Amino acid sequence: MHSIAVIGAGVIGLSAATALQEHLPNVTVTIYAEKISPNLTSNVAAGMWAPFLYQKTDGEKILSWGRGSHDQFLKLWKGGHASEAGICLQLVKSLSADIDLHVGQNIVWGEQQMPPEEVEFLTKLLKKDFRTAVNYVSFTCEPSRYLPFLQKRFIQNGGKIVIRKIKDFRELSHYNLVVNCTGLGAQELTDDTQMTPIRGTAIRVKAPWLFHSLMDDDIYIILNADTCVLGTTAQYGDYELNPRESETKNINNFCNSLVPALENAEYVKTCVGLRPGRVEVRLETEIQDIDGKLLPIVHNYGHGGCGVTLSYGCALNVVDLVREALRIPYSSKL
Ligand SMILES: Cc1cc2nc3c(=O)[nH]c(=O)nc-3n(C[C@H](O)[C@H](O)[C@H](O)COP(=O)(O)OP(=O)(O)OC[C@H]3O[C@@H](n4cnc5c(N)ncnc54)[C@H](O)[C@@H]3O)c2cc1C
Ligand SMILES: *[C@@H]1O[C@H](CO)[C@@H](O)[C@H](O)[C@H]1NC(C)=O
Ligand SMILES: *[C@@H]1O[C@H](CO)[C@@H](O)[C@H](O)[C@H]1NC(C)=O
Ligand SMILES: *[C@@H]1O[C@H](CO)[C@@H](O)[C@H](O)[C@H]1NC(C)=O
Repeated sequence: MHSIAVIGAGVIGLSAATALQEHLPNVTVTIYAEKISPNLTSNVAAGMWAPFLYQKTDGEKILSWGRGSHDQFLKLWKGGHASEAGICLQLVKSLSADIDLHVGQNIVWGEQQMPPEEVEFLTKLLKKDFRTAVNYVSFTCEPSRYLPFLQKRFIQNGGKIVIRKIKDFRELSHYNLVVNCTGLGAQELTDDTQMTPIRGTAIRVKAPWLFHSLMDDDIYIILNADTCVLGTTAQYGDYELNPRESETKNINNFCNSLVPALENAEYVKTCVGLRPGRVEVRLETEIQDIDGKLLPIVHNYGHGGCGVTLSYGCALNVVDLVREALRIPYSSKL
């Protein structure tokens, strides 16, 4: 038996932990987390499948990890888990001043240029020039439902969750391997100078009459199962966890001008989250010498504004790294 400790119970940690259980024989997985759902950055996310705020991470990696998650959302959706896991398939209208990464990559479905009259209308309304304007069909995966769904799966598969802050990796030196999914991390642990919070604000309202999501580089209206998310902000190095009146006003004004009926939508709540920004996503194995014992640590953190999008693709990559570090042969796959 190989014993593995995963630190973190956000969308990254829970995806890695369940993927390890489901893809490797003969492993026991224990999660250590200071906090769990609903009190995480992951819970703030709108869960849209979209590469966003990933800084210098290689575009090919983003697409390959993103594809892994998209496939997993499709599998869960087809398997009848959409409602429990908070997965919605929907029309997305996406605008950007850049050439958007996913364009032409065949991950999302039915991607088409927006009709010119629609682009013209939105360009005037938003007072911006767009180089990408497309309609397609894709998923949102809402963490406030997805995390409890993954936790339940993890426990049903024999996993254990320990609510505890890890102050020193020595505490886990009795494991065969540790997977580090600490997101932005407990501030004290974050000695990674390439990490920085990217603060995001999201307002949730009820708009059950809305049937598509719409986003540009700064502003979005994203459908979730019970609510609709209006966002957002992206402030680097800003740790303020309370919403600011000026920004919520700004978001509301923008969204109301796009969809005037939102003005009368029932308000639910406003949440702020600190996205785990990093120069690039860190997904690699490091061997640490802990009092003479060589402990492999697989790092999986720094997913910025697209942790949900990258979650399962990264988890599959973690499975490969763990297989390699513990020399688990491919033939013994379940
Ligand atoms: C407003 C907003 C909207 C967003 N929208 C989207 C979106 O539409 N699509 C998308 O893909 N992404 C979106 N994101 C980004 C997404 O939320 C993050 O990328 C993702 O949640 C990161 O997940 P994580 O598991 O790494 O971190 P977290 O959710 O922060 O989890 C970290 C875990 O590690 C634990 N931990 C940390 N340090 C320690 C320690 N020392 N000991 C024990 N436990 C520890 C924490 O307690 C927690 O359990 C959004 C973010 C925000 C703020
Ligand atoms: C499980 O692990 C034990 C101990 O490391 C080993 O003896 C056994 O062969 C493993 N079984 C499988 C199916 O890999
Ligand atoms: C989340 O935080 C609230 C407020 O601090 C607390 O009462 C609640 O128990 C926490 N939930 C979990 C599951 O830890
Ligand atoms: C684990 O990840 C955090 C980022 O959340 C990082 O600061 C820390 O250095 C990592 N731990 C180790 C032992 O490398």
